[in-house]
Amino acid sequence: MAKTTLAYTCSNCGASHKKWAGRCETCGEWNSIQEEAPLAAGPKGKTLGANKGRKIPLGDLSTVDAPLPRGLSGIQELDRVLGGGLVPSSAILVGGDPGIGKSTLLLQAAASFARNGQKAIYISGEEASSQIRMRAQRLELTDAPVRLATETNLRDILTTLEEERPDIAIIDSIQTMWSDHVDSAPGSVSQVRATAHELTTFAKRRGVSVILVGHVTKEGQIAGPRVVEHMVDTVLYFEGERGHQFRILRAVKNRYGPADEIGVFEMTGMGLQQVTNPSALFLGERDNPAAGSIVFAGIEGSRPLLVEIQALVAQSSLATPRRAVVGWDSARLSMILAVLESRCGISFAGLDVYLNIAGGLRISEPAADLAVAAALISARQDRALPKDTVVFGEISLSGALRPISQAENRLKEATKLGFSNAYAPSRMKLASESGMNVQKIEDIAQFVENCFGT
Ligand code: TYD
Ligand code: MG
Repeated sequence: MAKTTLAYTCSNCGASHKKWAGRCETCGEWNSIQEEAPLAAGPKGKTLGANKGRKIPLGDLSTVDAPLPRGLSGIQELDRVLGGGLVPSSAILVGGDPGIGKSTLLLQAAASFARNGQKAIYISGEEASSQIRMRAQRLELTDAPVRLATETNLRDILTTLEEERPDIAIIDSIQTMWSDHVDSAPGSVSQVRATAHELTTFAKRRGVSVILVGHVTKEGQIAGPRVVEHMVDTVLYFEGERGHQFRILRAVKNRYGPADEIGVFEMTGMGLQQVTNPSALFLGERDNPAAGSIVFAGIEGSRPLLVEIQALVAQSSLATPRRAVVGWDSARLSMILAVLESRCGISFAGLDVYLNIAGGLRISEPAADLAVAAALISARQDRALPKDTVVFGEISLSGALRPISQAENRLKEATKLGFSNAYAPSRMKLASESGMNVQKIEDIAQFVENCFGT
């Protein structure tokens, strides 16, 4: 008999290692490596599965029936993040911190799909049916023909799905499910992998769309959703601060649509409500322009979004001044500070710098560079820019402004929300300026001269 060797897997990123270590070399997480028993090998020399690895020419696929239309939930923000509705037989992972609203959203989505004529089943391993029913009553969803099941054993779940043949099955959450083929506790890397694999193959084979919920975990005992990211077609993450009522559903991977698309929701007493005009929401109340506050005309996925960027600069009492960032990349902040110091002579030495993106949004676009720089200079000099101004542009290390994409869409959104001035990179052809007064900027020194020169 072959010797069985134990495998060591990181519960945070799923990387496997030859031996145990205190820290995972792949993702840098401490105490996340767990011992797991390897999966049993199948019988030798036999092909498994109905197709036995048969080949068919790609051209022949055209003779297969036309693809089924995508299922629409009717929750537009969700449908957009999915790339225009739910693709039949696809597997979707919805990840997020505990308590952020995953179960709430998926119960609402299940009800919405069911009302649109699709057969939806919601399987919970976390709550009792009475608790789910109570939540459904509060959300006024009890009239929707959604099927409920509370089950954690994978074999039972697959039997139920086989009998019911729903269009959509929601599994809340993958960390509570267990397969009796695997000899470890629910939530371990091997269980999460095995159950997710079984469910996604079931989805492909039986034409059921499976939505898996995964909690983002802090400690290493329970496997995080990253472990199953590669098995599914679409990965959505729920972001947002628990203190804020806004929740952002972001597509980080999508085989059937654009990645980086976002859907914006608001958590209310009646569950999650979609926000169809997020720009107005992220701008908040801006009656009097304050020093350090700048409006950035950004793009999130396919949609323009205006966001307020706030900076605060204060005398530091520390030997190494603080650089605190919420919603942006801290390495990028250091780069902007260095460019401001060496290209414009504006030094932040001995000063604490705080940068915040309003509304709990995370921005990753380099086009926000100029708006961040403007907020920093405005805070440093204690001078506000006029309130009807938006800013966008990427800053290179030389201080020159680089052109960015979709400038026309950004300007159009700004006009719609009552802005009339914009600062934009000069090396960019604009088809239309949407009635805005656009100041074309060559480099960061010229920007400082134009806006804050005396
Ligand atoms: P939940 O969907 O249970 O989170 P998850 O499944 O991601 O762990 O959401 C829990 C939070 O949402 C909880 O703190 C209460 C809040 N909530 C509301 O504010 N309004 C509502 O209508 C509902 C159902 C929940
Ligand atoms: Mg939940």
